[in-house]
Amino acid sequence: MKKIAVLGYGVVGSGTVEVLYKNKEALEKKIGEEYDVKYILDLRDFPDSPYADKFTKNFDDIVNDPEVDIVAEVLGGVQFAYPYVKACLEAGKSVVTSNKELVAAKGAELLRIAREKDVNFFFEASVGGGIPIIRPLNQCLSANEIDEIAGILNGTTNFILTKMIKEGMGFDEALKIAQDLGYAERNPAADVEGHDTCRKICILASLAFGKHVYPDNIHTEGITKITLEDVKYCESMGAVIKLIGYASNKDGKVAVMTCPAVIDGESQLAGVNDVFNAILVKGDATGDVVFYGKGAGKLPTASAVVSDIVIAAKEKSTTRMMSWEDSEQDFIVPTDDVSNRFYVRANAAKADVEALFGEVRYLSRDNAPAGEIAFVTACINEKEFADKCSKIDVIGSIRVLPY
Ligand code: HSE
Repeated sequence: MKKIAVLGYGVVGSGTVEVLYKNKEALEKKIGEEYDVKYILDLRDFPDSPYADKFTKNFDDIVNDPEVDIVAEVLGGVQFAYPYVKACLEAGKSVVTSNKELVAAKGAELLRIAREKDVNFFFEASVGGGIPIIRPLNQCLSANEIDEIAGILNGTTNFILTKMIKEGMGFDEALKIAQDLGYAERNPAADVEGHDTCRKICILASLAFGKHVYPDNIHTEGITKITLEDVKYCESMGAVIKLIGYASNKDGKVAVMTCPAVIDGESQLAGVNDVFNAILVKGDATGDVVFYGKGAGKLPTASAVVSDIVIAAKEKSTTRMMSWEDSEQDFIVPTDDVSNRFYVRANAAKADVEALFGEVRYLSRDNAPAGEIAFVTACINEKEFADKCSKIDVIGSIRVLPY
């Protein structure tokens, strides 16, 4: 009988235990063996839980118990998760995790330990919640050279932007609803400042390009500066604003960025609304493949955690196939060397705009104040763009991306 431990009984942890017991019979058939949850680690007390006898506050109970084969880490954060996961792998236990912060910061090291110990370290739930993306990218698309990955990877910000675009709702009100629905991180800055998206695109880029991409090396912008005025200007050209994480192959290096982006209203990512996520993968053999589904929430994320548990229980040491190496920073193309088109809102005269940016496309909105102007530039280098913007009164700018 396989024995499982679950570290953390929050939203995803309780969902994981729920799915493990709800679908136990069918899952045991898939594994070919019975299983039980032996421990649930949490500092809180759950005396009324049907699983009350399984709770422990002591991690040593788990790591020192040779009966425990598989550990599901759903604590979040790095402070406790990192030493716990490392200790479990070193003790010869397979680990599955939903923790994108942990994988983005320590993935290369934890994968190396898992390989050395001949156990699994899986993290399907760390990107895209219930959307299968890690294993399909790694295995089903393995015949391809990956040219590019672009995704809407954060449910909370997509929910907020959808409310702004479709209902004209303000940012704060939409964030409050997302928090009430349990989508947002404990600290909403991780969502709205783009860090959560950054961690997820770093994981996908590491997997697709084979070297660890560290979040600290990646340009990251969130959605806190996006206004309803920007939404309206973009609407006038049939475009929408989405928070995008992208990673693009540039002759052996990789350009990676997290930023709000103006994208064409007809594009596949433009129609992805509310808490849904979508990931567009461009393979050299497949062309575009899009993965779509619920990127956050208790049961969708638990679905990915439990699927990893099933595979970890069936197949020992499959980590070798799903892995990447550590890397140097020069693997990443510097942001200043990247070129994009930009949407700009400014208080400026057309003559000054054209003297700086050449031919631009002007946009309009109802009730724009006198002197305000909005336009889209041609493709321009990031550094050159920043230099030109410093010469006029720019209210805001957003990259226009071709997805
Ligand atoms: N806060 C995250 C989101 C949860 O909104 O997408 C899932 O990673």
